[in-house]
Amino acid sequence: MNLTVAITGASGAVFCRELLRALESDERVAHIHFVASENSLRVLAEELGVSGRNDLLEKLLGATPTKTVQQSDIDIGAAIASGSYPSQGMIILPCSMGTLAAIANGLANSLIARAADVTLKERRPLLLCVRETPFNRIHLRNMSLAAEAGAVIFPCIPAFYNKPIDSTEMARQFVCRVLAHIGLPQPGAYVWRAEE
Ligand SMILES: Cc1cc2nc3c(=O)[nH]c(=O)nc-3n(C[C@H](O)[C@H](O)[C@H](O)COP(=O)(O)O)c2cc1C
Repeated sequence: MNLTVAITGASGAVFCRELLRALESDERVAHIHFVASENSLRVLAEELGVSGRNDLLEKLLGATPTKTVQQSDIDIGAAIASGSYPSQGMIILPCSMGTLAAIANGLANSLIARAADVTLKERRPLLLCVRETPFNRIHLRNMSLAAEAGAVIFPCIPAFYNKPIDSTEMARQFVCRVLAHIGLPQPGAYVWRAEE
């Protein structure tokens, strides 16, 4: 699998860190294109204490990446900006309301928005893990527009029935749901079983 992962300036950087870690260690995944919006860097610094664009992947993975490559959000000539590049899908985690608006309205004005636009036009899976609360009517309308165009609105709403002990575990289980949805079920995923 070739996948694209993007992080934007919404709260929830820990979700993206856990997603990148899971994909790096998944043998079914051959290549990951990673794009961080300019505004995500501010949130990464606030929430994870990770500063700067340099060595961002190393800092998030805690190791040298073996198959994840970072692309600049202003490089609209990157491979993933073209439908001819065989990507199997894109996950934006977390997805800000600003990036949602750009995608829902087809702006294609950054690599993230363009790659999402390409993903939709090629009818490939696009998961928008939106994060905001509460939603205004513009947010709701844009989610509806994006869903009508083929995106999956996969809000950053973690589960509690698995009794997570910390935010990392909560994020990890949420990532399991995201990856199962894109065809990559994870070995450590919690499965609810009702008592018999
Ligand atoms: C600490 C912090 C948390 C934020 N959380 C959210 C959020 O949860 N959802 C959201 O839509 N925007 C949030 N924002 C605002 C976005 O970063 C801002 O709208 C930005 O323009 C989004 O740009 P991007 O989509 O290009 O990354 C947050 C900003 C900061 C600094």
